[in-house]
Amino acid sequence: MASISTLDRTDSVAGAGRVKKSIRAHAAEVIDALQNQQSNLDALLRKHSVHLNPNDKKLLQSICYGICREWFHLEAIESQLLDKPLKARDQILSAIVRCGIFELGWMGSKEHAVVSEYVDVTVTEGRPWARGLVNAVLRQFIRKKSELKMERHSAQTLWNHPQWLIDAIQQSWPDHWERVLVENNVHPPMTLRVNRQKLDRDAYIETLTTQGIEAASGSAPDSVRLAKPVPVQSLEGFAEGFVSVQDESSQWASIILNPQDHERILDACAAPGGKTCHLLEMSDSQVIALDVSEQRLSRIKENLVRLGLRAELIAADASHTESWWDQHAFDAVLLDLPCSATGVIRRHPDVRLMRSETSLRSLIGMQTMILDATWDTLKIGGRLLVTTCSILPQENQHQIRKFLERHADARLTTIDGIPGLDTLYGTQHLPTHAGGDGFFYALLVKSEPTNNGVSA
Ligand SMILES: C[S@@+](CC[C@H](N)C(=O)[O-])C[C@H]1O[C@@H](n2cnc3c(N)ncnc32)[C@H](O)[C@@H]1O
Repeated sequence: MASISTLDRTDSVAGAGRVKKSIRAHAAEVIDALQNQQSNLDALLRKHSVHLNPNDKKLLQSICYGICREWFHLEAIESQLLDKPLKARDQILSAIVRCGIFELGWMGSKEHAVVSEYVDVTVTEGRPWARGLVNAVLRQFIRKKSELKMERHSAQTLWNHPQWLIDAIQQSWPDHWERVLVENNVHPPMTLRVNRQKLDRDAYIETLTTQGIEAASGSAPDSVRLAKPVPVQSLEGFAEGFVSVQDESSQWASIILNPQDHERILDACAAPGGKTCHLLEMSDSQVIALDVSEQRLSRIKENLVRLGLRAELIAADASHTESWWDQHAFDAVLLDLPCSATGVIRRHPDVRLMRSETSLRSLIGMQTMILDATWDTLKIGGRLLVTTCSILPQENQHQIRKFLERHADARLTTIDGIPGLDTLYGTQHLPTHAGGDGFFYALLVKSEPTNNGVSA
């Protein structure tokens, strides 16, 4: 619940006559940018949180994450409350109204203060003429709150997902789709990876218990599930590299690839480096961490420094091997492909707004190019693990089936002992399975080509 102190002090004067923007104005701007698909939620929150204190940052995050989880329901409520649709140039008002409705209906914020603050945001956003409109809409919502919250007339408002995605999940997982949609709207667990080079998982669980943090072993060998999220900086030994935050489904990737000492391993889509670091904690291997985004590579560097590990970092497009590969074949390749992220909607609730069937098609094309190019960098007898945090078959088992049709020297290996469903072309973990996020794994091994091009 928002505290009165937060509500009271937002519009203070800062510096030479500049009015400090209120948290509610920041919230409305984040939601407006999401409506326009300008950027993703995490990037927008980072941008808008720069000058905020920790409490305000937390409040902004709760409002914006919460709105993404209730997106389609809020859209339906808003359209019932407005007499006529807003003009395209006034979409910021829609964001203001949704933020107000969400706080009043879902966060239990103080009614009078919230209405008054969002009315003021119309002025900050250059729409003073809309003060009465926002006031009237929010007051009408307060009067009809229970009834409006109960009404969910379409699948979109019921599940808070776009129709195309509901259809895709239902068709892909006819026995699991409802659970998946429900799980996508809950808060995700916080999971840690204990650095096995520095300490043992049970010892770390004991340390947490002594600190009053409830924790238990996760499904993956190094994973620890926390009963409630805590700020990372408060975790004993975090700064010293004893633990990292990583979902257990992600942790399985390095376990499946099973890095060995002295192997030369390519992590082809590596940033922010969760799996790069896990591979290095598990083995004395040489890891080449490559990512197309130079900016994201810096996050790998930060993680390596904190954990006391070393890797070679390359900023390049993995599909253009001529620009970065030295022709020395790798013993193993980890390919954590860019994907729809439909397996991590509970962690990134804006994924449901940012993706479309069109964007999915272009992602699949990019995945195919990266897959084919990096296959050439693998030595005979080497292994390549393909992973995605997607639950859509087009990016997963269909992608692998087509790859096997194109590459006679590729053999799919059975992966035993990990939680998930066998798709015949890899293992699919759904966010409904105990613990981890939605994730896909397919382990390929390269065999010697025979004279007629068919693998031995
Ligand atoms: C799913 S994330 C990787 C997460 C990472 N493996 C980890 O565990 O922390 C996918 C990454 O692929 C990168 N990427 C996208 N297209 C790429 C390309 N053509 N070549 C190399 N990296 C690419 C993105 O910048 C992004 O960092």
